[in-house]
Amino acid sequence: MSEAQLLDTQRAFDSVAADYDGPRGNNELIQRMRATLWDTVCRELPGGGRLLDLGCGTGLDAIEFAQRGYQVVATDWSPQMVARTQVRAAAAGMEARVDTAHLGIQQLDRLDDAFDGIYSNFGPLNCAPDLHAVAAECARLLRPGGRLVFSVIGRICPWELVHYVLRGRFRRAGVRAARGVTAVGMNRHTIWTSYYLPREFHRAFAGEFALAGYRALGLFLPPPYLVDYYRRHRRRNACLGWLDDRLGALPLLRDMGDHFLIVMRRR
Ligand SMILES: C[S@@+](CC[C@H](N)C(=O)[O-])C[C@H]1O[C@@H](n2cnc3c(N)ncnc32)[C@H](O)[C@@H]1O
Repeated sequence: MSEAQLLDTQRAFDSVAADYDGPRGNNELIQRMRATLWDTVCRELPGGGRLLDLGCGTGLDAIEFAQRGYQVVATDWSPQMVARTQVRAAAAGMEARVDTAHLGIQQLDRLDDAFDGIYSNFGPLNCAPDLHAVAAECARLLRPGGRLVFSVIGRICPWELVHYVLRGRFRRAGVRAARGVTAVGMNRHTIWTSYYLPREFHRAFAGEFALAGYRALGLFLPPPYLVDYYRRHRRRNACLGWLDDRLGALPLLRDMGDHFLIVMRRR
């Protein structure tokens, strides 16, 4: 991934930062997945610990964890997103528990700190140029016994395939199958993205981190951009949500879905 591509991605997220807490970045389907990451972080990491957020967006997770008693360093490659996180931390009276930094995942070598856990929610790691370098930096920054909790955009999203194939948008339907970095449009900008199967993703971390587990997020339920469908069929979708919660960690099923949530333990 080139410097120019990283800057494209930065501009794309800068352009949506102002309304990212609305339907685009925080609708009911996103909130549902977000709650799973919150529960997982709190289960895996001791309360009061020190957390690093990679790609914090507007700071929804960072402020939630601060309110639950963690100390958080919230980082993002988009300066507009970092500014939104600062405003949110101030509004919540959490400035003492949330430090922010305009920092790309590709710049973690600039951090000199020690953390109990590192999390990343809703795909910032899909925009990172070199996962092996991220793994080495995470290992350096984590205390012994530390955990990584990441939600990552997956390769196989049955809902997305069906949705776009039915509309004759075959190229869009196949975008997650691309090998390497691929261009995805957002708000008339380009996000340069790599898609992963959970095992492809873990391979980059395997030298430093053991796989503790992973599960699908948004397999039976539609992806967040189909929230209108979700709202029109709430009762049916409550059942699909139940299936996601009960079956999303089963072998094979956990390899699919809009995102996957992966937990790794420092060796
Ligand atoms: C889909 S948003 C998710 C934001 C937030 N984690 C959340 O849960 O709402 C992806 C975020 O990743 C950030 N991002 C993209 N590329 C990045 C990079 N190379 N390093 C750090 N953050 C990046 C974007 O600026 C954006 O805030």
